[in-house]
Amino acid sequence: MEFSRQLPEYYLTASIEELSEKIKNAKQVLGDKLMILSHHYQRDEVVQFADATGDSLQLAQIAAKNKKAEWIVFCGVHFMAETADMLTEDYQKVILPDLDAGCTMADMVNDEDLEIAWSKLTEIYGDMLPITYINSTASVKAFVGNHGGATVTSSNARQIITWALNQGKKVFFMPDQHLGRNVSFDLGIPLDEMALWDFINQKLTSDGNIEDCKIILWDGFCSVHQQFNVEHIQEMRKSYPHINIIVHSECCHEVVELSDAHGSTNKIITEVEKSEPNSYFAIGTDINLVNRIAEKNIDKHIFSLNPDSCPCSTMNRISLQHLAWSIDNILNEKIENQITVDENTTKSALKALDKMLELS
Ligand code: 13P
Ligand code: SF4
Repeated sequence: MEFSRQLPEYYLTASIEELSEKIKNAKQVLGDKLMILSHHYQRDEVVQFADATGDSLQLAQIAAKNKKAEWIVFCGVHFMAETADMLTEDYQKVILPDLDAGCTMADMVNDEDLEIAWSKLTEIYGDMLPITYINSTASVKAFVGNHGGATVTSSNARQIITWALNQGKKVFFMPDQHLGRNVSFDLGIPLDEMALWDFINQKLTSDGNIEDCKIILWDGFCSVHQQFNVEHIQEMRKSYPHINIIVHSECCHEVVELSDAHGSTNKIITEVEKSEPNSYFAIGTDINLVNRIAEKNIDKHIFSLNPDSCPCSTMNRISLQHLAWSIDNILNEKIENQITVDENTTKSALKALDKMLELS
C-alpha cells in the first residue's frame, strides 16, 4: 500500500463553504461520469456529497452495477476501494481520497501468515473451505477464490456460512473471529465446536476437541467494536429497562448474546427506522453512524452503547478537504490515489466475490 501525501496547502486553508461549493460545481460538470460512494461510518461533511451511502455489501453491489461512472471516488477504506476496482470495468477508475484509510482488521491477515496457517491446518483437517470477510486484502480474497471459497459481509454472512458448512469440509473463516463466531453460533454450532487460530503464535485452540471443530476462526478483530462490553449493556438495561440493544456483528460474543439484535450497519439503521416512535435504542457501532441515526430519528431515543467510544480512525481520515482535492484532480484529468488490483489477483478474487454476490 502506498502512503498518502500531504494535501496541497490550498485545501488545508480554504473555507468549508469554498470547498463545498467546489464539490457541488464539479458534481454538476461531471454528471454521471463521477460517482461518489460513501460508507456509513464516513463523516457527515463527506456523506452529504455521496451519490450512494451504504454498508459493504450495498457499496459493492452499486459499484458492480454502475457502468456509466468513469471515476468512482470511494469514501471508505482501502479494501472497499480494491473490491470496487475488481467489480468494475477497466475504463472505470477507483479513487481513495486518502491512501492511509486502511482497515486494521483487514491488515491482520497477510499472504505469508495465511500460507503458514493453511499448511498447518490442512495437516489436521485435510482440505478446508476458506471464507473471508470482505474486510481483507484483494490477495487474501484471491487465495480464497482459488480454493473454492467465498467472501462475506456482515449482511450476508448467515447465507454464505450456511452454504459453506453444507459443502462437507471444515470451514476456515478470516479475519474477524467475532463475526465468524457470532454467525456460526446463531446457525447452531456450539462454541466448543469452533477452534481459534492464533496467527501470531501459530497455535490452534478450542474449548472442545480440536478434531471435532466444524469452523476454524482466524483470531482477528476490530478495535472499534472491541470498545463495547458486557458492563455497558448492564448499565444501559439498568437505566432504561425497555431499551433495545443492537450491535454490529463484529462485537464480541458475550456482547452479542446480551443484545437484542446484531448485524450490519444497514441492519442497524433499518431496525431503528422501522421501530415505533418513542422507542429506546443503545447502539454498539461507530459513533459517527450512531450520531447520524440519532439526528434522523428525532422521535426516538438513541444512545451509543459506549458514549466514550472513539470512531474508526481510518474511516475518519477522509475529510471534506480530501474529497475536494480528489475531485479537483479528476476535473484536471490528473490521476492521484487510484486503487488498482492486478489482473491475476482480480481474476482469482472475483471467483470469491462472484460466489458471494450470487448467494446474496
Ligand atoms: P458493514 O458492512 O456492516 O457496513 O461493516 C463494515 C465495517 O467495516 C464495519 O466495521
Ligand atoms: Fe475496519 Fe473496524 Fe474500521 Fe470497520 S470499523 S473499517 S472493521 S477498523
